[in-house]
Amino acid sequence: MAKFVGGIGTSHVPAIGAAVDHGKTQTDYWKPLFDGYEPAREWIKEKKPDVAIIVFNDHASAFSLELIPTFAIGVADTFEPADEGYGPRKVPSVEGDAKLAWHIARYAIEHDFDMTIANVMPVDHGLTVPLSIAFGQPEAWPCKVIPLCVNVIQYPPPSARRCLNLGKVIREAVQCYDEDVSVAIFGTGGMSHQLQGERAGFLNPEFDTMFLDGLSQDAEKLADIPRQTFIEEAGSEGIELVMWMIMRGALGEDVKETYRSYHIPASNTAAGLIILEEEGDKS
Ligand code: DHB
Ligand code: FE
Repeated sequence: MAKFVGGIGTSHVPAIGAAVDHGKTQTDYWKPLFDGYEPAREWIKEKKPDVAIIVFNDHASAFSLELIPTFAIGVADTFEPADEGYGPRKVPSVEGDAKLAWHIARYAIEHDFDMTIANVMPVDHGLTVPLSIAFGQPEAWPCKVIPLCVNVIQYPPPSARRCLNLGKVIREAVQCYDEDVSVAIFGTGGMSHQLQGERAGFLNPEFDTMFLDGLSQDAEKLADIPRQTFIEEAGSEGIELVMWMIMRGALGEDVKETYRSYHIPASNTAAGLIILEEEGDKS
């Protein structure tokens, strides 16, 4: 039986990836942020997941406004870093886990989550920056990755509750998988940020803190937050936080917070990171 080793919620700001790629993590601007990532890197090194399910959003790299899947799961053997307008990041290709991805797709569709199945899906900073945050600059990523892409770009995005419930279904799917693999799940994006318009640069640490607290203490309360509230309180791109709810749902009823870091600003955003583990799971 497969099992979850835990979940990570993390921002996926492209400038964080650029700081890694260009050797700037120890500059005055970036060092405090990257110092906060060290314990997370230690944690995942120790947990050594075989597979990471990375819940992310595409930023018009794999999909344009011509085609907008609400939930798309990558079932390929390999996913290439996307060209985001200045060439792809020079990071390793992402190795998939087709067997587990197909199992999750089938299980989810049989349980009323009609996922789009992606045989080809270039992955942009939404997915590769969290990998850099977790693993630095390895020759090859140390685990397989199942990309789970969520539409938070074009109205209407899925609700926080829909995302929490998808996480619960992914949990069931993993628990009935016939191979003994360990799985981490990443929810990416956020925290508060708004990249355009009159409120560009909007940040709301109070909302972010409430959200981080709620992940371990009251996920059902977070699931009731309407998408309008995410946009009002966390900024237009703060809606990305619904992706953390999929991560949360996959970890079961009771979780403990193992680690948190929160830093302002990273580019135009508040950068948060949280590690959650199932309560009582000391393995
Ligand atoms: C920025 C861009 C993003 O796509 C994102 O998710 C967060 C931040 C930025 O340019 O700051
Ligand atoms: Fe984003």
